[in-house]
Amino acid sequence: MRLHTVYFSAKGTTKICADFISEALQMETRTYDWLKQPCAQSIEISSDEALLFAMPVYGGFIPERCVQMAKNLKGSHTPAILAAVYGNRHYDNALLQMKDLLTAQGFCVIAAGAFLAEHSIFPAVAAGRPDAKDKEAMAEFAAKCRGLLAERGIFQGMEIQLPGDPAYDPAAYKGVALKPDGDETCVSCKACVEICPQGAISADAPRKTDDSACISCGACIKVCPTGARNYHGEAYQGAGVQFAKKCAAYREPEMYYISKSM
Ligand SMILES: Cc1cc2nc3c(=O)[nH]c(=O)nc-3n(C[C@H](O)[C@H](O)[C@H](O)COP(=O)(O)O)c2cc1C
Ligand code: SF4
Ligand code: SF4
Repeated sequence: MRLHTVYFSAKGTTKICADFISEALQMETRTYDWLKQPCAQSIEISSDEALLFAMPVYGGFIPERCVQMAKNLKGSHTPAILAAVYGNRHYDNALLQMKDLLTAQGFCVIAAGAFLAEHSIFPAVAAGRPDAKDKEAMAEFAAKCRGLLAERGIFQGMEIQLPGDPAYDPAAYKGVALKPDGDETCVSCKACVEICPQGAISADAPRKTDDSACISCGACIKVCPTGARNYHGEAYQGAGVQFAKKCAAYREPEMYYISKSM
């Protein structure tokens, strides 16, 4: 049985989780990196294969660009496993949104996990996560998924129950006001220009950001070799202190499975 692993990971933590779960599933795997290679074509995944769909949480949803790309995934009663990776605030409606999206594309969601990772805008929040305990949870999640995949057919016609508000409205999320830019240590290498999924950085002026296009994903910060690209200014510092206080408590991963008793 082949696994198709799809992720979008600007700062790398969603990739860490997707890779960890994929490996623990112990299946032949084909990987799709939607940051480096945006999905422009239909991906058909048959009923005797499986999908692992791993997404970061932005404002309680998955990134809008991934919602659009997910419409290229075509299942045929294909089992799907969800992983929502979030920065210790909450994942809100992200798992429910992922389930609804994939169900509409012909998948049957058999398991879903909300996993913790360093916050990509405020890295002091959930710093160092996923940690060893998170990896234990992901290993347990993968083991249970393997069991479910081995029982394929038994869950036909059943539906996984996931938390979230059924009346969720992704359009209500307008993004965050904070946008990164480059400072005087920029050496014009253009790495940020190349990686930006939104085309928000021009090659002529890589220190600047087109705020109207930027989704604050942080990919440019991750690739910048000098540290020039980052969030700057007092508003950012102040927001960071407030946010760290609000999100100080250690949150545990949460995992859900399709139920045989339904
Ligand atoms: C624009 C934006 C919005 C975010 N919204 C949330 C959120 O609603 N809840 C949360 O807990 N974390 C939130 N985060 C943090 C990310 O979900 C988290 O850092 C995730 O690990 C990022 O994945 P990546 O490292 O693959 O980019 C947000 C991050 C960004 C960039
Ligand atoms: S400019 Fe904005 S959208 Fe582009 S990589 Fe940086 S944070 Fe992401
Ligand atoms: S990646 Fe950093 S150093 Fe390179 S052009 Fe962008 S801001 Fe400048």
